[in-house]
Amino acid sequence: MPRPLNNTETALTAANLLPLAQHYSGPFWAYDASVIQQRIAQLNQFDVVRFAQKACSNIHILRLMRAAGVKVDSVSLGEIERALAAGYQPGGEDIVFTADVLDQPTLARIAELKVPVNAGSVDMLHQLGAVSTGHAIWLRINPGFGHGHSQKTNTGGENSKHGIWHSDLPQALEAIQQHGLRLVGLHMHIGSGVDYGHLQQVCDAMVDQVVSFGQDLEAISAGGGLSIPYRVGEEAIDTDHYYGLWNGARERIAAHLGHPVKLEIEPGRFLVAESGVLVSQVRAVKEMGSRHFVLVDAGFSDLMRPAMYGSYHHISLLPADGRTVNDSQKVESVIAGPLCESGDVFTQLEGGKVETRALPAVQIGDYLVFHDTGAYGASMSSNYNSRPLIPEVLFENGTAREIRRAQTIQELLALEL
Ligand code: LLP
Repeated sequence: MPRPLNNTETALTAANLLPLAQHYSGPFWAYDASVIQQRIAQLNQFDVVRFAQKACSNIHILRLMRAAGVKVDSVSLGEIERALAAGYQPGGEDIVFTADVLDQPTLARIAELKVPVNAGSVDMLHQLGAVSTGHAIWLRINPGFGHGHSQKTNTGGENSKHGIWHSDLPQALEAIQQHGLRLVGLHMHIGSGVDYGHLQQVCDAMVDQVVSFGQDLEAISAGGGLSIPYRVGEEAIDTDHYYGLWNGARERIAAHLGHPVKLEIEPGRFLVAESGVLVSQVRAVKEMGSRHFVLVDAGFSDLMRPAMYGSYHHISLLPADGRTVNDSQKVESVIAGPLCESGDVFTQLEGGKVETRALPAVQIGDYLVFHDTGAYGASMSSNYNSRPLIPEVLFENGTAREIRRAQTIQELLALEL
């Protein structure tokens, strides 16, 4: 602790986290604003950077994005209301609503606010068109292939529910014309954790779609999906190369249409993953046959990624007494949480195979820090086992402030009492 962060300086140091860990009597999330700002700056060649807020939807993180000129992608009524609470304006290009389904309350609010819709089904176009003529529309295309760090994050191809199937674009266009909707652009997001090989393929597919679609457009969106180096030594994505490939596609499209076209990118993970950590406390250590278990007070109700996808997060030891860690005496450990469920293990592969991690000798009361949990960490937490949501803290300009307090047990029970 701390782990080297691709040469990025971070406020998430042992010296900064230990006092917070001592202050809270349970696990908490901490974020470093400067890491987010550096990641935003890396994408400044794109005309629009649109944050997929599902990765980390805390209003204070959204305010930070807005202050840096980043637009936002919302996928539910709750996310739209979060964006508004953070100061984003409805009606223009600040907020785009991306989904494959429009439920009734969301449809009513979107029609009222005139939030542009990135439609993932032709039915959405009919439902929206019936109540809101002239509404701004993006079409999310499923190009027939996809890719992701897990099958569960692959959003293209015929096993994915996402987007409008590429050959159904004429039906989408018919619905747009029938209801007098206003087409803004085409969008493709083929999955999360996409590699360069697939990137060229998706850029080419975007060009092909625009050409065969035969409609005028103002913009295209590259979607999100940029990966980050979760394992020490893994290479960080080359954002210039990424931009270069997409800009090439944009130029081919602009030449075809005969006018400039805006290029949007819509990352979640890339902007926030490396900015965050989850700090938990070691509460028990035990041997189970040949296995050495280290049990902490955070579970998959807090950080779901390892249980859901077998995702790897770097884990480091933060000694409670400030002692120097002896790295030469590591113990292969299974690291698990407090939930009453066998899958509550942080060291597992997709499919549930339990793995071990080499950890320096821990003492009860020490802290374990789960790195790169700024994306899909707090935002995927639940109340499973009736455990309240844990606090979030943001380091910014040399100070730390709580940006979400802990949920109380009373709040947990309130909806039922
Ligand atoms: N745009 C759309 C339409 C999306 O569906 C997503 C992610 C993104 C952008 C942002 O993708 P990113 O840049 O973060 O890869 N919970 C999973 C990731 C699921 C992402 C779902 N959609 C995880 O923890 O890895």
